[in-house]
Amino acid sequence: MIKADIESYKPQKVNAHEVSILEALLKESGFVSGNELAKMIGLSRTSVHSKIEQLKQSSFKIEASPKKGYRLKEEPKAMNAHLLAIYQKVLPENFTINYYPCLDSTNEEAERQFYQKLQPPFAIISSKQTKGRGRLGRQWQSQKSTNLYCSILFAPNIAPEKLQKFTLWAGLEVCKALQKYISDSDLKIKWPNDLYYRERKLSGMLTEAKIDTDRMHTIVFGIGINVNSSAKTMPQSIQSIATSLKEITGDTISLNQIAIAVIAAVIRAYSICMNPEESTKLSIQWQDYDYLKNKRVELMQNHKTIKGTVLGINDDGALLLKTDADVIKTIHSGDVTLKK
Ligand code: BTN
Repeated sequence: MIKADIESYKPQKVNAHEVSILEALLKESGFVSGNELAKMIGLSRTSVHSKIEQLKQSSFKIEASPKKGYRLKEEPKAMNAHLLAIYQKVLPENFTINYYPCLDSTNEEAERQFYQKLQPPFAIISSKQTKGRGRLGRQWQSQKSTNLYCSILFAPNIAPEKLQKFTLWAGLEVCKALQKYISDSDLKIKWPNDLYYRERKLSGMLTEAKIDTDRMHTIVFGIGINVNSSAKTMPQSIQSIATSLKEITGDTISLNQIAIAVIAAVIRAYSICMNPEESTKLSIQWQDYDYLKNKRVELMQNHKTIKGTVLGINDDGALLLKTDADVIKTIHSGDVTLKK
């Protein structure tokens, strides 16, 4: 990566007064007077007016009436740092979110920010990635600003075993969070952690950790979700195998709200791993969303193909595969494809 490239990746700045104004307008369906806003925020009416002008310039549709004040006509669905700042109040207080209109890869930027001393845990969100990374060295197509590209970095500094199931828990918790948008039960998780809706991929996840001897220093959980893209505008190569929440539900979804729901789900997964309870069994919760259960699959492992039927996962998060020779294999890693 050349330095000039990195320097062009700038996070969107957040102005605290503009956030407060927006928050007040979001709470109210009608008008809020300039006086009320000024009192609430501790600014003069003239300053409120100039902040409103700033917000309008950054694409917020705000109606102004000399008698009644200001009203937000509609809430933008596009990613916006001010809206993220409002919604992130449900997250732990020390959690930072940085939003960038464009990046090479949010996983990459998370690592850069960690080395530049941004205090973990934090999330990096982008509307576009020029070098989105997928699993197994693949590329993740991320040109459309209609989708979510997000990475969350934790610095656990503990023995790696403790977070051995983190990726699976994170996938499961995100799946449950997305279920809230979908009315039927066809949203599933394909081991280890792709989300599928009726045979089409909705989301992919990539976890990258920095481990030395017996310590995990950082873990970056990166997730791409097709949110508002339409099948027609998806890259040709994935049109027949991918889907989006918009394709599934027919609705355009707020990228800011979904980003916060996803981050909250990943934080939950991290806390489950850090404070495990006997009663919270991964293998049991997995069953409700298991895409592969009872399906015939092929698994590539060390250049060998194993064929069989998936029974589920065990409590270590390993895939249980009944081979054609009737042997039950416990698979800890590999790439599974469905056999027609
Ligand atoms: C896969 O299914 O192959 C995993 C895809 C992971 C893509 C996400 S998008 C946000 C984050 N940044 C990246 O460069 N990759 C992950």
